[in-house]
Amino acid sequence: MCETSVPTRNLALELVRVTEAAAMAAGRFMGRGDKKAADQAAVDAMRLVLNTIDMDGIIVIGEGEKDEAPMLYNGEHVGTGEPPQVDLAVDPIDGTRPVANGLPNAIATVAVAPRGTMFDPGPFVYMHKIAVGPEARGMIDVEAPVEVNLRRIARVKGKDVRDLTVVILDRPRHEKLIAEVRRLGARIRLIPDGDVAGALMTAWPDSGIDVLLGIGGTPEGVLAACALRAMGGEIQGKLYARNEDELRRGQEMGYDFDKVLTMDDLVASNDVFFAATGITDGELLRGVKYTGDGARTYSLVVRGLTGTVREVIAFHRLEKLRRFSPVDY
Ligand code: FBP
Repeated sequence: MCETSVPTRNLALELVRVTEAAAMAAGRFMGRGDKKAADQAAVDAMRLVLNTIDMDGIIVIGEGEKDEAPMLYNGEHVGTGEPPQVDLAVDPIDGTRPVANGLPNAIATVAVAPRGTMFDPGPFVYMHKIAVGPEARGMIDVEAPVEVNLRRIARVKGKDVRDLTVVILDRPRHEKLIAEVRRLGARIRLIPDGDVAGALMTAWPDSGIDVLLGIGGTPEGVLAACALRAMGGEIQGKLYARNEDELRRGQEMGYDFDKVLTMDDLVASNDVFFAATGITDGELLRGVKYTGDGARTYSLVVRGLTGTVREVIAFHRLEKLRRFSPVDY
């Protein structure tokens, strides 16, 4: 695109309505112990609003098959069918357990990029990840030892390794990683779920988070790549096979589990749009707040071409919405 051209449509400003709808629908299920019902509500609301947007969209990254979630299916067409032709990555709830249990950091997210530019991980649900904000872009290597990465990040940020805060999903598979980060003296923020928010925190000045490490979902990796690409950060990944059978299946399908997935592999365009709305309170975004006559939502809206990040606080009049919306807000 020509440097002097006038900024055109910012799809992310329309996408925020999608994540707001998903968050408000899911927010009703906070602490009610029902992951599936929360996910179904978020999926239904997200699909409904997605289909009002002028775009010819195909879902490349839908909900993971790992917990048989009510999916927005991979390959599903969304939008009105009008141009532009785009790929979508959706996660109606990143953090279904936190929603069901009333824990922090659950968000609703959507990313859009030009057709054919998003990595399709197929049925492979996990990848190794390392993510950082703009200051440490270009300093990370998903294959390098943790010590090397942390020292480089600390150096470029003018900090000591013990000043760094590393966000890691709290999982038994990360026992060794956690021990190594502790040995190096860095601080750890263990999160129960939600590594899209975890990755974004690295690019969010007030979060105090310097780097995300560990194995998490591939869909979440692509979503985080879209957001970080727009925000000037970086994520690298590498597919992770849970067992020999998965590895063999992947190889038969042409996936290379030894390949480092760079930003360009994960999303090969700067023309990305990303939106996220908080469902439960977290470092990145506040959750949905209900009042007697409505609901307040807190969102992030990011556009890759300009790098603009908007924080959007919206007040929704539920009694008016209920008059015409089939969604049970
Ligand atoms: P869902 O809410 O979609 O289940 O994802 C939550 C999440 O914590 C992701 O943020 C993360 O990438 C993935 O699950 C990790 O998978 P697992 O829970 O199987 O370790």
